[in-house]
Amino acid sequence: MPNARGGFSSKLGFVAAAAGSAVGLGNIWQFPYIAGENGGAAFLLVYVLWIFLIGLPIMLAEIAVGRRTLANPYGAYHQLGGKSWALVGLFGILCGVMILSFYNVVSGWAFGYFVQIVKGDIFNETNFSSYFSSYVADFEDNLVYSIIFMFITAFVVYKGIQKGIEGTAKILMPTLFFILIALIIYGFTLPNAIDGVEFYLLPDFSLINGATIYSALGQAFFSLSLGMGALITYGSYIGKDDNLLSSASLVTVTDTLVAFLAGLMIFPLVFSQGQSPSEGPGLVFVALLGVFKTMPLFVGKLVGGGFFLLLCFAALTSTISLLEVPVSYLIDQKKWSRLKAVSTMAIVIFLIGLPSMLGHGAIDMFTNFTFYEGGNKSFMDVVEDLFFVISLPLGGFLLSIFIAYKWKVENLSKEIAKGNDTYVGSWKEKYFNFMIVYVCPLVLGIMFVLTVLSKFFD
Ligand code: PHE
Repeated sequence: MPNARGGFSSKLGFVAAAAGSAVGLGNIWQFPYIAGENGGAAFLLVYVLWIFLIGLPIMLAEIAVGRRTLANPYGAYHQLGGKSWALVGLFGILCGVMILSFYNVVSGWAFGYFVQIVKGDIFNETNFSSYFSSYVADFEDNLVYSIIFMFITAFVVYKGIQKGIEGTAKILMPTLFFILIALIIYGFTLPNAIDGVEFYLLPDFSLINGATIYSALGQAFFSLSLGMGALITYGSYIGKDDNLLSSASLVTVTDTLVAFLAGLMIFPLVFSQGQSPSEGPGLVFVALLGVFKTMPLFVGKLVGGGFFLLLCFAALTSTISLLEVPVSYLIDQKKWSRLKAVSTMAIVIFLIGLPSMLGHGAIDMFTNFTFYEGGNKSFMDVVEDLFFVISLPLGGFLLSIFIAYKWKVENLSKEIAKGNDTYVGSWKEKYFNFMIVYVCPLVLGIMFVLTVLSKFFD
């Protein structure tokens, strides 16, 4: 244990928890449909480029800041940069709160679908598109499942770093891999599976443009849990002699691999029944359901249930990391007990999420949120735009500026070198320093300006 705040038991414990944070709805729900809509392997290529050019350096830096300060994002920036930089940490915590508020709603949908599939009634439906629309508009079901999901998240976080967060990740992550591989193998045995593989893996570069390049970057940030301090927080619980570079690399590779494999699981299934691969966000909730329905009931329940369980497990290890961020802040800075911090935050975040839940048909005002982009977007879309699409790359931008000009890369190197004797002076150090000082601020800064312009000054 690094200090009295508690900590992961081993390097594996950190890697499991951080990979758990990274692997989530972003990998299994979002990545496949975004890749499907944007040129398949061509999108994957851009995505992987961002991951290694920007994602890995930022991840390494976040973890190093966390371990150096043994603090939550606010405390970390405060210690190394003073009062004004602490605001950046605080904003990161706010992003975590807002992301969790809608993430928990979508997790609730996944959980609800899991239950409906296991019960089997859902297979009597004929139109899964309208089923999905009415499902997300139904307040009661959503309320129940998202309360349960938030409760489980809160319980794990309450159990603490080792017993709760690490213990859960060590069980759920291997299980998730197992289900994923089993579903891929099953999918490949179906007729027309190969069409799905072709659709996914034959790159269509004509679909790559400025917007896709930007969305690949946003997706990389979201998927790696970067830009809001989740990894500063987890980094503060890492062993003092752990090798940060190999840990960060393992997390990055795992996250990317799972996103890649999720596509390899979903497209053969979708193509086996001639469902539409460009369903958008409904790919998982609509197209896949059509596939499970064609299977014999027992197989449909097994494969469909397995799929949604996988989605829930992936989501849970992410919601846990999102909740730990404000909780660690309240424990460190406000000296709250873990119980008080967890229960208060879980309730507050749940309440903040209500308009997101009600904004899918239940209440008009939140469904077509009048105050933004002419009312074409739901409340959830707005929260996503503000606190994820715009803010996570912005958080990465500020972190790189902070390290380059305030904390200094020499200190970053020193922290990374603990547990990695050969780091200082190596090509790796040169690469990461170059990325943090020049490439990240430049690229992320430009991207930020372009997004703000495109969102608000059409
Ligand atoms: N990485 C998670 C996913 O891919 C989402 C997340 C973002 C979790 C930010 C924590 C912090 O679904």
